[in-house]
Amino acid sequence: MLRLPPRATQCRSSAASDVYTRQAAHGTWIGAFAPIRDNDGQVVALLQVDTPLDRLLEESNRHTTQQALFALLLLVVLVCAMNLASHRLTRALTLLAQAAKRFGHGDFKTKITAHGATSEIEELAGALETARQEISEQVDAQQLTEAQLAEALAKAKAATEVKSQFLANMSHELRTPLNAIIGFSEIISNQMFGPVGQTKYVDYATDIRSSGAHLLSIINDILDLAKIEAGHASVQEQVEFEIGPAISSAVRMVAPLAERRGVDLAVLSCPEPVRLIGVERMIRQVLVNVMSNAVKFTEEGGSVTVVTERRAGGSFRISVMDTGIGMSSEEVKIALTPFGQADNMLTRKHEGTGLGLPLANAMMELHGGRLLVKSKPGRGTTIVLLFPAARVSVASPEETVAARASS
Ligand SMILES: Nc1ncnc2c1ncn2[C@@H]1O[C@H](COP(=O)(O)OP(=O)(O)OP(=O)(O)O)[C@@H](O)[C@H]1O
Ligand SMILES: [Mg+2]
Repeated sequence: MLRLPPRATQCRSSAASDVYTRQAAHGTWIGAFAPIRDNDGQVVALLQVDTPLDRLLEESNRHTTQQALFALLLLVVLVCAMNLASHRLTRALTLLAQAAKRFGHGDFKTKITAHGATSEIEELAGALETARQEISEQVDAQQLTEAQLAEALAKAKAATEVKSQFLANMSHELRTPLNAIIGFSEIISNQMFGPVGQTKYVDYATDIRSSGAHLLSIINDILDLAKIEAGHASVQEQVEFEIGPAISSAVRMVAPLAERRGVDLAVLSCPEPVRLIGVERMIRQVLVNVMSNAVKFTEEGGSVTVVTERRAGGSFRISVMDTGIGMSSEEVKIALTPFGQADNMLTRKHEGTGLGLPLANAMMELHGGRLLVKSKPGRGTTIVLLFPAARVSVASPEETVAARASS
């Protein structure tokens, strides 16, 4: 800022303003003058200002330094403010990233806060915190349900364990005297140690034997099913056996019943002999159970056909088709549950305990196979027994020739 030096004002006669420098004893002076005019435009005075150049430069330098210092200070304050803001932002984002990481690891317990961050980030943190609380509550509820389910499952397993243990003990206790009853009644009915005086006694002994055998088969079914349900049954005794003879033997067992009921029974086998890997006793029982049902639930004049076929991919299928009374889909569900019988107790005409089909189903599953029921009321039933390729072994051509020659 220039100030007017006290002795710098003097009038000179000049029409134009100008700037000049002059050398004086104390150094260089810089000055400027300008004319002062009256209303008519006549120069009446000359305004002149001058000052030592050193002083002017000093003044100007001080001013520049002040401005530079001020700018520097402003810059420092700005950098500090930006640093602070970026630190707060980074910290808040790090907190949010850590929270997301915890979420990923299934930890919904730690609270999410981003105090002091920008309002947007605080809002984001707030939304995340609300979501965390909801998820945490859901996780707690789910954990509680899981714990309750695990407890219920453990109790059910323990109960099943007790049940199968009880059945195993009971069936052992029942089977021993039952075998004696069956054996001795057979001796009496066959009069092995000499004639029985009264023929009535022979008839009674025969009835005792057949009732005992029936009871034994029910006990065996119950035990087998309980064992499979408790996971105690296995296919460890599995062997490779030809399925043809097993089917023939099942047919022979149900043939008398078919004949009595006037039901036609036929088998259509696939050309090549097929061997299955499994527990032969179980597969035979599955066949008998399914075929005896087909005959039992088919009216006189109807037919039961057993068809075997190898499937593409190597699996093997046995279909037992009947033209009997059939079942609705609801009845099929009932039929597959232990002791479930489609026709109710009052109207039922057929004997049985309702164990045959669920047992056959459980035995098929134990072999990795499936038992499928296709049925319609009044239109008959087809039970499909499906064995996976892993359980099927096809006989070699030489064996096929030998099998054909011997048949
Ligand atoms: N081929 C079929 N046609 C119609 N109904 C059937 C057939 N097979 C099974 N059912 C129905 O399913 C029920 C259950 O069959 P399942 O073999 O388990 O018992 P069951 O034959 O009554 O008695 P058992 O224990 O002596 O076999 C039968 O009572 C019957 O109602
Ligand atoms: Mg049955």
